[in-house]
Amino acid sequence: EDITARRKDAHLDLCAKGEVEPVENSTLLEHVHLVHCAMPEMAVEDVDLSTPFLGKQLRYPLLVTGMTGGTERAGAVNRDLALVAERHGLAFGVGSQRAMAEDAARAVTFQVRQVAPTVALLGNIGMYQAVGLGVDGVRRLMDAIGADGIALHLNAGQELTQPEGDRDFRGGYEIVRALVGALGERLLVKETGCGIGPEVARRLVELGVRNLDVSGLGGTSWVRVEQLRASGVQAKVGAEFSTWGIPTAAAVATVRTAVGSQVRLVGSGGIRTGLEVAKVLALGADLAGMALPLFRAQQEGGVEGAERALEVILTGLRHALVLTGSRSCAELRRRPRVVGGVLKDWMAAL
Ligand code: FNR
Repeated sequence: EDITARRKDAHLDLCAKGEVEPVENSTLLEHVHLVHCAMPEMAVEDVDLSTPFLGKQLRYPLLVTGMTGGTERAGAVNRDLALVAERHGLAFGVGSQRAMAEDAARAVTFQVRQVAPTVALLGNIGMYQAVGLGVDGVRRLMDAIGADGIALHLNAGQELTQPEGDRDFRGGYEIVRALVGALGERLLVKETGCGIGPEVARRLVELGVRNLDVSGLGGTSWVRVEQLRASGVQAKVGAEFSTWGIPTAAAVATVRTAVGSQVRLVGSGGIRTGLEVAKVLALGADLAGMALPLFRAQQEGGVEGAERALEVILTGLRHALVLTGSRSCAELRRRPRVVGGVLKDWMAAL
């Protein structure tokens, strides 16, 4: 087993059982209140949540964000969750394809087309690995798994906490410019739990990026994951920075204002319920994204476990639509909402 693969399985163990969601962190979605409509004048069947993404039509505005690949166990996670996404009309992302860039024999653990022939599928690679791979290398990763697009992930907080992590974050915008030229709307840029703010979002959109996933603070903390693996200085500083980031609600609301309506915006990072999905959609996201809860449900109960967890989320989402009197995401976005607490301060400052 090489280092990348061993680290991957250590990460999966920590995410399955460890305290990787610091309790002091919040998405700030508790400060968003959707407004009850006592007379919705619609049936539950009238709710239509279909949403375009990556040239396909999703049945639900939900992305299973990239998590894993590279080991046998990781391959099973990918296949199970891709199958669930295929069955229910969600989008699905594999985790970092670095392992298969380093060793082609690992490609099979990222292959999900056999179980998910029509799912809207995203490949995944780190921004700074993309700098090394170049445009052709990144395109090959996407094509090798038959993906509809590829996510470039940002994780400076994680890298700094990882003893063997990157220390040089130059050249990102340059590779983004080149990748936009080659891949156009098939490119997505995402964070991994510390959030993308309006300034970075605006620069990315100016370069032509048309899909963003804010992946804000409030759920899985990759600084915390690395803190749990680290010792000494790295562990101490990791503890300090596992609360670092832009809360998901603040990131979604301010990025949407900054980039206008031509950008497909994914709201992820700590989304755990259907009502929270509805709240990020109301704040301006086109889709919500989720990683940890579906991973844990899959680890506990396989495909069926993940489907049971998903049913609770989708039912809650439908209820939120009916109880606000909204037939679609577009209608939900036009409904009133109350924003309070410290979220108001974030929205005013960014
Ligand atoms: C992740 N995440 C992630 N992101 C990415 O772009 N590439 C990756 O390889 C991984 N790997 C990974 C593994 C596991 C087990 C988890 C739980 C997460 C980050 C993920 O896509 C997401 O941005 C964050 O986890 C925040 O969402 P949740 O988990 O709070 O819903």
